[in-house]
Amino acid sequence: MKKYIGAIDQGTTSSRFIIFDNEANIIAKDQLEHEQIYPKSGWVEHDPIEIWEKTQKVIIGGISKSGIFPNDLETVGITNQRETTIVWNRHTGKPYYNAIVWQDVRTKDICKKIEEKYGELINKKTGLKVNTYFSASKIKWILDNIKGVREDAEKGDAIFGTIDTWILWNLTGGVRNGKHITEPTNASRTLLMNIDTLEWDEELLKIFDIPQAMLPEIKSSSEVYGKCKGILENISIGGILGDQQSALFGQTCFEKGDAKNTYGTGCFLLTNTGENKILSGNGLLTTVAYKIGDNKVHYALEGSIAIAGALVQWLRDNLGIIENSSQIEELAEKVEDNSGVFFVPAFSGLFAPYWEDTARGTIVGMTRYTNKNHIARAALESTAFQTRDVIEVMEKETGVKIKELKVDGGMVVNNLLMQFQSDILNVPVIKPRVTETTALGAAYAAGLAVNVWSSTDELKKHWSIDKKFKSKMKEAKRKDLYKNWKKAIDKSIGWID
Ligand code: G3P
Repeated sequence: MKKYIGAIDQGTTSSRFIIFDNEANIIAKDQLEHEQIYPKSGWVEHDPIEIWEKTQKVIIGGISKSGIFPNDLETVGITNQRETTIVWNRHTGKPYYNAIVWQDVRTKDICKKIEEKYGELINKKTGLKVNTYFSASKIKWILDNIKGVREDAEKGDAIFGTIDTWILWNLTGGVRNGKHITEPTNASRTLLMNIDTLEWDEELLKIFDIPQAMLPEIKSSSEVYGKCKGILENISIGGILGDQQSALFGQTCFEKGDAKNTYGTGCFLLTNTGENKILSGNGLLTTVAYKIGDNKVHYALEGSIAIAGALVQWLRDNLGIIENSSQIEELAEKVEDNSGVFFVPAFSGLFAPYWEDTARGTIVGMTRYTNKNHIARAALESTAFQTRDVIEVMEKETGVKIKELKVDGGMVVNNLLMQFQSDILNVPVIKPRVTETTALGAAYAAGLAVNVWSSTDELKKHWSIDKKFKSKMKEAKRKDLYKNWKKAIDKSIGWID
C-alpha cells in the first residue's frame, strides 16, 4: 500500500516541502526563496518570521500539488541549513534579532580570542574549529549586543535554536507550548555540544558565556518529537537532520567510508566514519552523522566549502551577467576552457581545508581576451577545484582512496560542472535517481520513527543511479589546472587583518 511522508527542507536560499511515497518517489514539491539580508560587508541575516511564513506556504503548496490530503501523511521530517542562529522570546514568539546566518563573519574577533585560549580544548570536545561559521559566537553576539536578551535568557524566556528548532517549535504550537528540541547533527554544529556524550557541555557554555536555560533539549535524529498544531494538524514530526547529514542519509551512506558531496549554496563533502569519530588534523570537521532512536551514534568527517551555488547567485544578482541560474552553463559552454582565469569565491573567507578568515573573493589570470563566458566557466570550475582540495585531505585522514563520488543538490543538473568534477578528480561522479537527497534523508529519518520503513537496509533498495560522469581529461592538463588553482588560492589569502 502507498504511504506518504513529508519533508521540510529549510535551506540557506529557499524553503521546500517535498512529499515522497514509501518507494522514495517524489509525489510533489513546492519551493520559495527568501530574502538574503546583508546589513554590512561580511554580515548575512535572514528574517525568521519570513522563513516560518515561507515554510508554511510551501507546505500548503506541496500538499495542494500532490492531490493527497494532509491526513494522508504518515509523518513529517525536518532538514535545515545548519548553524544559523535564532534567539526568540518563548512567550511572544518574536525573535530578538534576525537569524545570523552560518556565512556571517561578524564574530571574527570573538572567535580569534577564544581560539587562542581554548582552541585545542574546544576541538577535542566538539570536533570543530573555533570559527564564525558555528552558532556559539553568534549567540554570544546577540547576548552581548541586543538589549535585554541576556537577562531574558537567564530567566529562560529568551531561547535559542538553530533553524530545525525554530521550525519544530512553531509547528508544534509556538507560544502555546511549542516543543523546544534539537538533535545531535544540528547540536554538533554549535560548538556547545560534547561530541562524545551528545550533551551540552558546561565548560563550553562558560567559555562562550551562554546560559544553559536558553538551550533546547537534545533528542535523537529519528523519533516522534510531537504533533503539529494548526498547519498539518495532528501529523507527527518523526525526524530531524541537519541538511548535509540528511543528504548523507538520503544517499544511504550508512557504511563506514561511504561519502557524498552536496552542491547547494555551499558544497559539503561528508564521509561516514561509523561509530568511531576521527579527529582531523588537516582542516576537516568531525561531526555527528546521525543518531537513529536508541541506536548508536554514527560520526562523519566533513569538508565544508562556503560558496558554491551562492557564486552563481552572485553572478546573477550582483553582476547581472545571467538572469537565472541555469544560464551559467550556457555561458560556460560557449568557451572551450577558462583561458587561464581562476575565480576563488572566498566571500566568507575560506573554509575547509584552509580556514582562512583573511581570504576574500579573487579573480586571477584575466587578459583583454577574457569575457563573461570565461568568468562563468571559472566560477563553475571553482566548485570542482574546492571539492578536490577537500578530497585530497579526506583521503589522507581516512586512509581510503575515493573511487567514485556520489553527488546531489541543486547544482548537479549542471552537466558541464559534473563532467569537470570528474575530470579534475579523475574519478567517476555518480548522480542518483533522486537528487533531492537532502529532503529524502529527513523523510527517511521520520519514516523510520513511525515504521514506514523498518531498517536502513530497506532504504538502500530505493537508491539507484541516474547518470555516471567519467573523466575525459588528460593527466597533464589536470595537473596544470590544479597547480594554477593552488596559485589562485594563495593570492586570495591575506586581504584583511
Ligand atoms: O552548514 C551550512 C549548510 O548546512 C548549508 O547548506 O544547502 O543551505 O547550502 P545549504
